[in-house]
Amino acid sequence: MLPRVIVHNMVSVDGRMDWFEANEAQFYETVKNWSEDCTLAGADTILDGDPQAAMEEPPTPVAAAQAEDDRPLLVVVDSRARVKGWSFLRSQPHWRGVMTLCSETTPRTHLDLLHVRGVPHIVTGGSRVDLRESLARLHKDHGVRVVRVESGGTLSGVLLRAGLVSVVSILIHPALVGGSSPSSFFRAPDLMNTGGVIPLRLVGVERLGSDVVWLRYLVAK
Ligand SMILES: NC(=O)c1ccc[n+]([C@@H]2O[C@H](COP(=O)([O-])OP(=O)(O)OC[C@H]3O[C@@H](n4cnc5c(N)ncnc54)[C@H](OP(=O)(O)O)[C@@H]3O)[C@@H](O)[C@H]2O)c1
Repeated sequence: MLPRVIVHNMVSVDGRMDWFEANEAQFYETVKNWSEDCTLAGADTILDGDPQAAMEEPPTPVAAAQAEDDRPLLVVVDSRARVKGWSFLRSQPHWRGVMTLCSETTPRTHLDLLHVRGVPHIVTGGSRVDLRESLARLHKDHGVRVVRVESGGTLSGVLLRAGLVSVVSILIHPALVGGSSPSSFFRAPDLMNTGGVIPLRLVGVERLGSDVVWLRYLVAK
């Protein structure tokens, strides 16, 4: 069985994720709506959010998650072993614990260090993490029922293309970004024709403040 997966992002009217003035306080207020027990983050989002997450730390144990703590678990997709600041991430107030998803190509030294530091990790997939299997293991072995994806269009794109997302929730900000450099919240480089377009069913529309619109869609299966 798989957990319910929600992609929740702030975007411009043209679906871009960067270069507009985002209302982060409002974003995190709406996040509460999902009652996630796991925040699934892309490594790039984590590293972009705080460069300290890339810094080597002493090989000391990282505090384990406490069962009675109702904050979500932070799970970072990181087959390339770029995230190293596990004590730093664990000290952030948003999460009750940290965990990472690796693949067969993740360097052995990194896996050994995760083991020594007590950072729980799941190894799936060949060159990249097998997201379906990882989600199934998060559900089965860690009791994860609701996952909110905290990422850019890359991880969300892979999850959406694999049919693993149940809900798409976007806060549309009053800006047109344009250009081709700032990425869209859904990147699908493998899309070849209209056969791969993902149909959605609108289930919620809300105006937030003066200019932001919150749209919620179910992904049609
Ligand atoms: N506006 C918003 O609401 C919002 C929210 C979050 C982030 N952002 C912005 O988005 C940007 C980062 O987004 P991004 O799209 O560059 O990166 P991302 O989605 O955060 O991270 C890419 C992740 O996807 C994984 N991945 C890529 N291909 C995969 C595959 N085939 N199978 C399994 N996993 C795969 C990578 O894993 P490996 O490392 O294992 O390769 C990596 O963890 C940042 O600028 C951030 O600030 C905006």
